[in-house]
Amino acid sequence: MADLHVLVTRPDVPAADDVRRAAADLGARLTWLPTAPGRAEPDPQALREALADADAVLAQGVDPLDATALAGASRLKVCALAAVGVDQVDLAAARRRGVRVTNTPGVLAATTADTAFALVLMARRRLVEATDAMRAGRWTGFSPEGFLGHDVAGASLGVVGYGEIGRQVARRGRGFGMTVRHLQRDSAPADDVSAPVGWEELLRGSDVLVLAVPLDARTRGMVDARALAQMRPSATLVNIGRGALVVEADLLAALREGRLHSAGLDVFDGEPRPDPDDPVMSTPGLVVLPHVGSASHATRAAMTRLAVRNLVAVLRDEPPPTPVA
Ligand code: DGY
Repeated sequence: MADLHVLVTRPDVPAADDVRRAAADLGARLTWLPTAPGRAEPDPQALREALADADAVLAQGVDPLDATALAGASRLKVCALAAVGVDQVDLAAARRRGVRVTNTPGVLAATTADTAFALVLMARRRLVEATDAMRAGRWTGFSPEGFLGHDVAGASLGVVGYGEIGRQVARRGRGFGMTVRHLQRDSAPADDVSAPVGWEELLRGSDVLVLAVPLDARTRGMVDARALAQMRPSATLVNIGRGALVVEADLLAALREGRLHSAGLDVFDGEPRPDPDDPVMSTPGLVVLPHVGSASHATRAAMTRLAVRNLVAVLRDEPPPTPVA
């Protein structure tokens, strides 16, 4: 194939040699987009400009592949995301323009479920608060009342989004001796790990609620003041999906006012959040991580490799292994 141009939206990615090899096999020119000054992400305008003559883009889940970006991408055949979340891509615009969109489900499920459980333990047992106190020299000795949290063993776990990640979260919950239920949806398969229940029942009956659902019009803001009011004051909310699933101001108010015990967030509306004075850094009971759900060497490499297989397949007019429906 002559004159092909493959764009990678970062200056480097895990398994970069696989990207180089695939481009060489295709005979394609490869461009690695630099990051914007002081950022880990490319400048959106630079991304739009680079897309203008790209036949394929290997992108991250947070890259804005919106209608404007796609409108200028007249040669583009495929957006191969090294991510499972596709909320940053305008799927309707891609479909209209005949651009295939692919993602990387499955390969990141176990690692992301591990991150969910790390947040469950950190938030519920107040472990970050304890570490912070020790680092600040505030550990004055063993105290029978010090840093008491709530048990994970024996607690009830509610999983929102019973896809591959949600099912892995459920299995971990069973391993921890939790009772597990998930939000009933037509698409959620029945199994012997977790029982499907309705939204209100899940909110009222869960000691730990984990959000592992994609962000779309139906799920945006699903955890708002009304939902939080139905949760137990001793409960823990964990979000490993997308920030906008939760109305952040409502969550922070619930934590500050003691209406919710704790929360663990790996994702935020409006990332990144570098301001040390941001209320998410200091709200009691809140544990934060900088969007590291799938961040292990092996998993990020597997994500790149699957994205490359998708990209190559589309450019060769073959069915990609994991297209977005
Ligand atoms: C995903 O895979 O969707 C992660 O959140 C990274 O974008």
